Amino acid sequence: MPDQKTVYPNLDKGKWGLIPVAQLDTYKGLIFATFDPGAPTLPKYLGDMRFYLDCLLDRREGGTELIGGVHKWIIETNWKMPAENMIGDVYHAPVSHSSIITAATALNGEGLNASMQQITEHGRNVAPEPGHGITVRVLPEGLPPDTYLPGDAASLNPVVLDYFRSVQPEAEKRLGALRTRLKPATLTIYPNFSWIGGVFTIRVAHPRGPGKTEFCSWVIVDRDAPEEVRDVIRQSYILTFGPSGTFEQDDGENWQQVTFGSRGTQAVKYPYHFAMAMGEEAQHAELPGLVSGPMSEHTQRAFYLRWRNEMSKT
Ligand SMILES: [Fe+2]
Repeated sequence: MPDQKTVYPNLDKGKWGLIPVAQLDTYKGLIFATFDPGAPTLPKYLGDMRFYLDCLLDRREGGTELIGGVHKWIIETNWKMPAENMIGDVYHAPVSHSSIITAATALNGEGLNASMQQITEHGRNVAPEPGHGITVRVLPEGLPPDTYLPGDAASLNPVVLDYFRSVQPEAEKRLGALRTRLKPATLTIYPNFSWIGGVFTIRVAHPRGPGKTEFCSWVIVDRDAPEEVRDVIRQSYILTFGPSGTFEQDDGENWQQVTFGSRGTQAVKYPYHFAMAMGEEAQHAELPGLVSGPMSEHTQRAFYLRWRNEMSKT
């Protein structure tokens, strides 16, 4: 655990140094810091996002840990593209990722396709706090027990599947009946920390100048998961959302082309259109935050509204 006032790399000088931070705090193993002395406390900043984060962080008594080091790569896109993608962009998946879904279905059966259909059928886009957002599957009661297990691609592996079956009673005890039925797909914590729940990976999108973004990406697993399970999950991440991953290649190309296309002489004259399912977001009886169906841009609207408001202050 680092010191409260002394952290981290002096990125401008390309070497490690001491930079005073205004606040340093942790949430169930994740470390957050800010240079802003006026920032709210971490619990207040995360707000109701914690309700959903626990589904990923608090399944087991031992918590989670990162494995395999960090992947870093730079792509030519505005950093807000990946943030808004993972805050609730369900509608891109069947089109952007159709090749890999078709190939995976041919090789491994309907597992991945079923996972996508599960998101389309049971997914909800939620803004627990303005600027934070998540796509989460809210599974009904009475489905086959394996349906409620975490993970997507990696959980197609029998070793991983057996592990999650064995620890599900512990997870249910810790999370309660409702959250046992919640399966986070992707999320963004404002502004640039994202999580791909089904693939057990977290990432930060650092701006590296106009139109350039550096990703820092990690694999996160249960601290007490057996070695062979960790290994399958790590390999699954590399195959899907690592820097050379099939899904990552699809998404990265989208983000780069959106950034490039937005600079065109005609494109710059027009605002982006984020009106999908306008006004359909509402309070939910069981879920904190504003909730809509999966084909909605309300989480993106809240994200950009917060961004605009904060940039207007300076
Ligand atoms: Fe994607």
